Amino acid sequence: MKKLLFGAIVLSFMSACNSDNMSNQSENPAKEDISSANMFKRGCASEEVRQEALKNNAELRQRFVKLEANTEKFANDLKMGKVLADGTIEIPVIVNVLYRTSTENISDAQIQSQINTLNADFSATNSDINKIPAEFASTASGNTGIKFRLVTVNRKSTTVRSWRTNDAMKKSSTKGIDATDPTHYFNIWVVSDMGGILGYATFPESSGLWNDGVVVAAKYFGNTSSAPYNLGRTATHEVGHYLNLRHIWGDANCGNDLVADTPTQTTANYGKPTYPLYNTCSGVQRSVMFMNYMDYVDDAAMFMFSSGQKTRMQSVVASSGARSGLRLY
Ligand code: ARG
Ligand code: ZN
Ligand code: CA
Repeated sequence: MKKLLFGAIVLSFMSACNSDNMSNQSENPAKEDISSANMFKRGCASEEVRQEALKNNAELRQRFVKLEANTEKFANDLKMGKVLADGTIEIPVIVNVLYRTSTENISDAQIQSQINTLNADFSATNSDINKIPAEFASTASGNTGIKFRLVTVNRKSTTVRSWRTNDAMKKSSTKGIDATDPTHYFNIWVVSDMGGILGYATFPESSGLWNDGVVVAAKYFGNTSSAPYNLGRTATHEVGHYLNLRHIWGDANCGNDLVADTPTQTTANYGKPTYPLYNTCSGVQRSVMFMNYMDYVDDAAMFMFSSGQKTRMQSVVASSGARSGLRLY
């Protein structure tokens, strides 16, 4: 339907330019002579040259139509507040809190502290950014252009003491809370406890499904007193997965995380490793980027995404990406 419409637009446009071209040859020279002021104005032939090229090239016409459709979509998104003027996007967040004890019913302030940490980490304005080793400074992502805005907090009291990674918390029929419109909102579930698991996420292929989103245990959500996971980096790590980042070690010995600028490393790192740390994979020794959010180190030991990771995340939220629906309305 839309294509037909644009086809019609371009057709009328083409015919208009045909008549323009004809008048160019016959009437225009005379017209230009009318105003002597105009004679001394500079000319730019771009549009004329373009019209001629469009007239003779169907593929070019198709590209032109697509480009204008894209431009219109962007302008519309901008008007609707779906993209921000500086090219960044702001993801609307729903936080679903499932609590048994009053401590697990975390405060609005704690929830906001997590949103603030996400915004700091994803814009590279985190207070520990200056800890990035000089060796990795040029590989660091800088601002990813992805922001987060808290829209709604849903709370539900439950008798469940401990949850498993089976998505039960995402359905009211299994004592959880149903996701809010997961195509357009990023849902986070904060639960009492998951044993040794701090959190888990769905990847972008799950976009819009009932179970799409991130789960984090209450004691690791936002600024907490649960050192060494007390700085809200569990959510930063899980949101990385939600936006298609793999673990930096590629979930295998010397595995592949599909990011070129993160050095291949043998395995996950824990605690607070000492820099520099060297791993050898396929006979090549590399300095490990263990301070990456997608490793398993302590919250205080992770403080960067790489440039390649930024590109992967941006491709997911781009208008052609699996999570393009995540826009403020
Ligand atoms: N899914 C990981 C886990 O449960 C999250 C690790 C996050 N790391 C962190 N320092 N917060 O272990
Ligand atoms: Zn992970
Ligand atoms: Ca890599």
